[in-house]
Amino acid sequence: MTIRIYATPRRAAAALARRVVAAVLENPRLVLGLPAGRTPIPFYDELVRLCARGVLDLSRVTAFNLDEFLGLPAQHPSSYRSFLMRHLFARLPVGPRRVYLIDGATAAPDRECARYERAIARAGGIDFLILGLGVNGHIGFNEPGPALVARTHRTRLTPASRRANAPLFRGRVRDVPQEALTMGMATILRARRVAVLATGREKAGIVRRMVDAAVTPWVPASFLQLHPAVHVLLDRAAASRL
Ligand code: GLP
Repeated sequence: MTIRIYATPRRAAAALARRVVAAVLENPRLVLGLPAGRTPIPFYDELVRLCARGVLDLSRVTAFNLDEFLGLPAQHPSSYRSFLMRHLFARLPVGPRRVYLIDGATAAPDRECARYERAIARAGGIDFLILGLGVNGHIGFNEPGPALVARTHRTRLTPASRRANAPLFRGRVRDVPQEALTMGMATILRARRVAVLATGREKAGIVRRMVDAAVTPWVPASFLQLHPAVHVLLDRAAASRL
């Protein structure tokens, strides 16, 4: 793992955006994996700015989202699909060539997960996967527990994750769905390159456990220690316990 610490969340986000620019220059047909959450918002702002200035061209890129709530209608404003549309895709002059979003409104979740894994395989796998970090150590919605699931799957959200996502639901934890669909740990670990963006003091403890403690399913992000090409971008607050 390489770790870089930046003065502010915005600088960490800008550094990650520069990495995307470099990766797309190297391979214009890059396959990207993208998260939702509050942390990546400045990163998406920066991608939009770079695209508008002509510094970044995503027109041949393929994008996959990382996870999605289960049971929300497709157009629900709190879905991760809506989040990515609002913060990224709808703002780009020219969007990615292909965008794959997990369908959280599906009536057949297991079939939807299998379809998603097949789509990732057909795209040739994920080249560059960008992750946020849950305060409880989750990545995507791979929640802490006695065991992890390898592939894209249906999962029950922990109370901590539902609380963390409440701001998307006007602060109402009871409105946050109980379940989600998420790429699995093997889906994540098979990405050729991974970047984790974590900012803010509330992430400092879990950042330390991700990079510097035992690899355990109770901290799913600790499995990233097993990956050969993980880059962690932090602001000073998130790095304050390293
Ligand atoms: C959410 C999502 C993750 C996200 C993480 C951090 O619940 N499932 O994909 O990376 O938690 O969210 P935030 O950036 O808002 O702290």
